[in-house]
Amino acid sequence: MTTLANIALIKYWGKRDEEGFLPTKSSISISMPELKTTTSINVSKQDNDIITLNETLLTLKKSKNIIDFLNFFRKKYNIDAHYIIKSQNSFPTAAGLASSSSGFAALAKELNKLHNLQLSPRELSILARHGSGSACRSIQNGFVIWHKGERADGTDSYAEQLFDEKHWPELKIIVVIVDEKEKKVSSRVGMQQTVDTSPFYREWIIRSEKRIQPMIDAIREKNVVALGELAEQDCLEMHHCMQTTTPTLNYLQPKTKNIMQRVKALRESGIPCYFTIDAGPNVKIITLAEYAGKIMQNCV
Ligand code: PMV
Repeated sequence: MTTLANIALIKYWGKRDEEGFLPTKSSISISMPELKTTTSINVSKQDNDIITLNETLLTLKKSKNIIDFLNFFRKKYNIDAHYIIKSQNSFPTAAGLASSSSGFAALAKELNKLHNLQLSPRELSILARHGSGSACRSIQNGFVIWHKGERADGTDSYAEQLFDEKHWPELKIIVVIVDEKEKKVSSRVGMQQTVDTSPFYREWIIRSEKRIQPMIDAIREKNVVALGELAEQDCLEMHHCMQTTTPTLNYLQPKTKNIMQRVKALRESGIPCYFTIDAGPNVKIITLAEYAGKIMQNCV
């Protein structure tokens, strides 16, 4: 089964409850047709899980988050099985390109199918959330909101489709790969450090939450300027919080900053284009299909 990664337009960065993967705020994403994970699962005859990613057998250390997720799944659904999992990404893994979003969503969907659990999209989203927060948004395609929820048990913290992938086909996200290497500080560690130590974090949460409704309106109205401005500002404020943690957390490289400047210059020349960047150096440029060629010439 193939599952698409998603890129957040309004970011998730930080948990109010680490164990339950409960976020401090809601977030909104778009699915990425070119960023795919294909996963297959079979029951293993051995009493351990065997996980292969991009044709490489994962070490225990590398598979820890996946095994933790499988243990959570086995306990929650009272299932006594181990698995042989084969997963393939169509793009660099763990380089801030949302591989965990499609990876854990694919796992949740495959486990559901294998055991015929008939979980609803909401239940699948809650399950995927326990692998990686952003994975809860990859259960659905198109524009998706992850409601932060209020309950301590996390049953109201799930993702829901706002508009399907056919709503706005002219909207394009161009991925500029600056560095394919795996990031040094994982999202999981980085976001906790940000919650604990950035003096600007609380303020960002309030400001970012206020962008949720305007972002939904911008998507509904297909207003690329409003969407781009909201997404870019939210991304900049998130990176500001990251950079003001102790110790400082910097995912941006000189080449990243260069592309950010080029996007700004293109915009000043009249092309609607905006950047967003996650926990890695790679840049995603938001624009409309008619401008994609010109942007690729200048930025890729
Ligand atoms: O789901 P995680 O733990 O990989 O965190 C994702 C965090 C960001 O990609 C930076 C933002 C987001 O909302 O996807």
